[in-house]
Amino acid sequence: MANFSNPFSGNVPDRKMTLEELVRAMRLNVAAEEDATTLYMAHAEATDHPLAKKVLIDIANEERVHVGEFNRLIQLLTGDEDKWFADGAAEVDAMARGLGAAEPAAGEAPKTTVGSLKE
Ligand SMILES: [Fe+2]
Repeated sequence: MANFSNPFSGNVPDRKMTLEELVRAMRLNVAAEEDATTLYMAHAEATDHPLAKKVLIDIANEERVHVGEFNRLIQLLTGDEDKWFADGAAEVDAMARGLGAAEPAAGEAPKTTVGSLKE
């Protein structure tokens, strides 16, 4: 689990957070959700048990929803987070165009991959 700045280490502080601290706490929550998603997907990929795989992927996708919730909250708290996300997306799109890679349509997985590390 992510522990960048160890805010509170399980203890509630004796005062309310400032807005800046709240934003940092939400960023840490995003990292925790991403960490959980990675863990559950790795476990899903490492088992052939159909029910376990289905449950793990379902929960991993729920964590991805939580990432979206926290990122939306960060946007509302900061007022400019979407601008930074859009700038980053535009930079990657420009690099993809530079390589002649077509941008996948929304919801479509990219057609290229690094492949399986097991094969
Ligand atoms: Fe979650």
